[in-house]
Amino acid sequence: MVCGIVGYVGERSALDVIVDGLKRLEYRGYDSGGVAVVADGALASVKRAGKLANLEKALAEYPLPAATTGLGHTRWATHGAPNDRNAHPHLDALGQVAVIHNGIIENFASLRAELEDSGVTFASDTDTEVVAHLLAAEVAAGTDLADAMRAVCRRLDGAFTLVAVHAATPGRVVAARLNSPLVVGLGDGETFVASDVTAFIAHTREALEMSDGQVVEITAEGATLTDFDGAPVPEKRYHVDWDVAAAEKDGYDYFMLKEIAEQPRAVADTLLGRVNDAGEVKLDEMRLSDEELREVDKIIIIAAGTSYYAGLVAKYAIEHWTRIPCEVELASEFRYRDPIVTQRTLVVVISQSGETMDTLMALRHAREQGARVLAICNTNGATIPRESDAVLYTRAGIEVAVASTKAFLTQIVACYLVALYLAQVRGTKWGDEVVTVLGDLAAMPDAIASVLDEMEPVRELARSMASATSVLFLGRHVGYPVALEGALKLKEIAYMHAEGFAAGELKHGPIALIEDGIPVFVVVPSPRGRSVLHDKIVSNIQEVRARGARTIVIAEEGDETVVPYASHVIRVPVCPTLMQPLVAVVPLQVFACEMASSRGFDVDQPRNLAKSVTVE
Ligand code: F6R
Repeated sequence: MVCGIVGYVGERSALDVIVDGLKRLEYRGYDSGGVAVVADGALASVKRAGKLANLEKALAEYPLPAATTGLGHTRWATHGAPNDRNAHPHLDALGQVAVIHNGIIENFASLRAELEDSGVTFASDTDTEVVAHLLAAEVAAGTDLADAMRAVCRRLDGAFTLVAVHAATPGRVVAARLNSPLVVGLGDGETFVASDVTAFIAHTREALEMSDGQVVEITAEGATLTDFDGAPVPEKRYHVDWDVAAAEKDGYDYFMLKEIAEQPRAVADTLLGRVNDAGEVKLDEMRLSDEELREVDKIIIIAAGTSYYAGLVAKYAIEHWTRIPCEVELASEFRYRDPIVTQRTLVVVISQSGETMDTLMALRHAREQGARVLAICNTNGATIPRESDAVLYTRAGIEVAVASTKAFLTQIVACYLVALYLAQVRGTKWGDEVVTVLGDLAAMPDAIASVLDEMEPVRELARSMASATSVLFLGRHVGYPVALEGALKLKEIAYMHAEGFAAGELKHGPIALIEDGIPVFVVVPSPRGRSVLHDKIVSNIQEVRARGARTIVIAEEGDETVVPYASHVIRVPVCPTLMQPLVAVVPLQVFACEMASSRGFDVDQPRNLAKSVTVE
């Protein structure tokens, strides 16, 4: 679950700050919203299913009293349908405590039964509501709200961020986290808690990191942190180095378009400062010694969704450059197959958000088995990098659109840097070879920019196909994960049936799907160096074309062999085979985006999906 969470104490209108914060968190995906404020010794709360506009309408109809303490929530349903009654906040029977929650309380059923036995009536189907009743009972027995939160947290299993206020204690908000994100914002005479800094970046850039198993109490003056037993914990403050403008659309219709356009910059930033004057890769932040890296005898890449596809691309480079066997595994499958992991295994976890629960759990499993874990992540201070032995940040900047784009490219580049570093340390590539590949990488931002300059025909193509019911994607070698990614993009935002295949697999089944007029994208490898592969895919294009497919061929500049069999050719610049995914995926991103918008869908917040998936 990826609910948006905001809590505020200060001098301003809590409601204004909270609603603004919730809007900034909209990109996380949600299906209902709600707020509660503490005023005149009472709680006032409004919540509504649907978009925040519904909540705002309700707030206009039923205005809340002026207040400077409150909390707000956008919910992504897990327990209970996305309706008004299941929306957060949840209050206890006497309306003294209001609670919002992200995550899942795994033992909620037994807690609910216990409360019901003691006479409590529940007003929702959520797991969250048990917390409101438990907190209220503690406070009614004379316990201070922060102590009550600690006591309740000790009884909960699962993953949660909780934020609570009490009618009798204006000026105080209490929050807790376990395996679910929460940060504290420290302003001047005002303090915030939120799922991420986007919610309060307009007010302060000073933040306090919270670790799992901690409770924080905020007042206008600041924050007090303890563990679940009440022992003080040291504060870890940090300064957020991006501003609110970075989280806005910059004139683009959608965040996704803005983020696609940012890819040349993002790739350049991933490379920035990671090559020294001698042309060697330097990864100061690696925190793994050269000795440890020389001992590695196997690499396992673990990730989900688009990040997994970045891992599939990286495998080709890692094995080619380092000669270390590399497996790529879906995070949600990894720990259930009794994987062979030793102290000599390097596990690379890839995650844009750094909070994906499947990936986090796989990471923990790998570490328990003794593996060293390197995180490739886009979010500073997120849980996954914090729990890894080493981290390489992708530096793509905030990715707001649910469909991942710039994260994918920068993850590939970050993996390549790791592969080159390993090759350098282990001597599997000569220094001048590393310099050549780094030169190829350095040329990619311009190559990506040149693809972006030629995207109007791709947009036209998408518009012309808006009524298609199914689109297929074919690729070989590194083009295969690109095909998978092209299909995923189309599924998630244009809600179309789309499948990616290894082109060689066509004859083993999928070719039966080819019928008159079906659009088939084909990612064609360069004819240089990989001529066998190239010839084979040209045959595949012929095969589908002969059966009536509309072939959309992504091919290198100057590759004329594909032209006779292509209904449409999309050109990408000449570049080495392993670099081609960085340019070939761009038209597929643009195609999906235009397809979604011409079919009238919400490009940035597709249905049923959320930006950061913090449940398994
Ligand atoms: C697809 C997409 C998802 C994510 C996946 C992993 O566009 O965004 O498939 O790639 O949920 O997320 P991270 O990388 O945050 O672990």
